[in-house]
Amino acid sequence: PSLEKEFLPMYFGWFLSKRSSEILRKAGQAFLDELGSLKAFKKESKYFAYAIEDPKIKIDLTSYFVKRPPGVLHCTTKYTEFGKAAGAEEYAQQEAVKASYGKGFTLSISALFITTKTVGARVELSEQQLLLWPGDADKILPTDNLPKGSRAHITLGCANGVEAVQTGLDLLEFVKLEKAGNKGDEVGEIGGGKLVYFDNGMWMLILSKKIDVKAIFSGYYG
Ligand code: 2AM
Repeated sequence: PSLEKEFLPMYFGWFLSKRSSEILRKAGQAFLDELGSLKAFKKESKYFAYAIEDPKIKIDLTSYFVKRPPGVLHCTTKYTEFGKAAGAEEYAQQEAVKASYGKGFTLSISALFITTKTVGARVELSEQQLLLWPGDADKILPTDNLPKGSRAHITLGCANGVEAVQTGLDLLEFVKLEKAGNKGDEVGEIGGGKLVYFDNGMWMLILSKKIDVKAIFSGYYG
């Protein structure tokens, strides 16, 4: 018998519970609020098309990252484009993917970051979670050789005209700098952790206490 070809989702990923989405959104919001009123950030605000040094004026990063994901947040594992993307079928047919579909996971968030284009949360995947991570995701250039799972993130917002795919690429830029031995400038402790500046409008908040979020591994069909 000829079976219909399996219909693949737009993407596979972990979909956060409503409660975890709210907790993470709030943490992201608090980060943007604090960063926007920080002197060190204002000094570098030209990257965000602002020129504010007046200590009384706060930079409204919430309005800057105007495109925010509606509904629950997610961490994309494989963008399969309904089966059209390279490696989509192979990914969907993996035992780990089939066995984990619909199952619950706890993801660990280790940092929050912003660039001039995106704001996101860095996800630290466990060995078991890495089994669901595709082999081809952790590259900007074909020659990049970064640890598996380097790109794992949750998009919290994008600037006007920026697509969500950018958040993972931005996180890879941070990882590339780290790999090159660039530890960034430690600006100091702010609410939630240690703030590090990598120049060019790239800021990372390394959380002193990781945020655990509950998520279901599944597919999004649009
Ligand atoms: P995100 O994972 O960074 O949020 C639907 O567009 C979702 O799939 C978005 O959440 C988006 O980014 C992700 N996505 C879109 N295009 C992608 C691509 N080419 N590679 C990886 N992820 C992509």
